[in-house]
Amino acid sequence: MGQRVSVEIMMEESFVMMKPDAPQRRLMGKILSRFEEKGLQIIAMKLIQIDEGLAKEHYGEHKDKPFFNDLVSYITSSPALAMVIKGEDAISLIRKIVGATNPKEADLGTIRGDFAIDMGRNIIHASDAPESAKREIPLFFDKDEICDYDLVDNSWIYE
Ligand SMILES: Nc1ncnc2c1ncn2[C@@H]1O[C@H](COP(=O)(O)OP(=O)(O)OP(=O)(O)O)[C@@H](O)[C@H]1O
Ligand SMILES: [Mg+2]
Repeated sequence: MGQRVSVEIMMEESFVMMKPDAPQRRLMGKILSRFEEKGLQIIAMKLIQIDEGLAKEHYGEHKDKPFFNDLVSYITSSPALAMVIKGEDAISLIRKIVGATNPKEADLGTIRGDFAIDMGRNIIHASDAPESAKREIPLFFDKDEICDYDLVDNSWIYE
């Protein structure tokens, strides 16, 4: 996945989701700003009530883990904000912006480090690899919900 826009820049798309604690705690705007201010581009976004089937499919890799049922309950407990975010090396960059899975270990300055305390309320999801993004994006978005548009400041973000 990814589209080469110049010799050096490999653009990637990541699936990012603010979990139900973000809308409930009225933190969506602050969290969105972290990505926008970095220079990343939001190319799809919607508030959705995730159902059990979608939650189980999205987190399928964890189906045998002891926390799986709690994770599915958490993700389906109230609406989440699903997004596709684009930028150079966006997948690993966004994981850095999001911080460690356990908010107690996440560095201050990361989203989880600044806005969360508990592992089971860690406020945001982000794809962990290009293959994950490729699997996750179509689970949440139809092709026509993803917007292909140029930002006017691109030449001020990328050399
Ligand atoms: N030991 C645990 N106890 C409780 N919940 C957990 C535990 N490990 C993971 N989780 C929950 O399951 C989610 C998925 O775990 P994963 O290992 O994929 O971490 P992650 O990739 O950092 O998180 P995400 O996939 O949500 O971005 C975590 O974000 C967290 O909400
Ligand atoms: Mg994960």
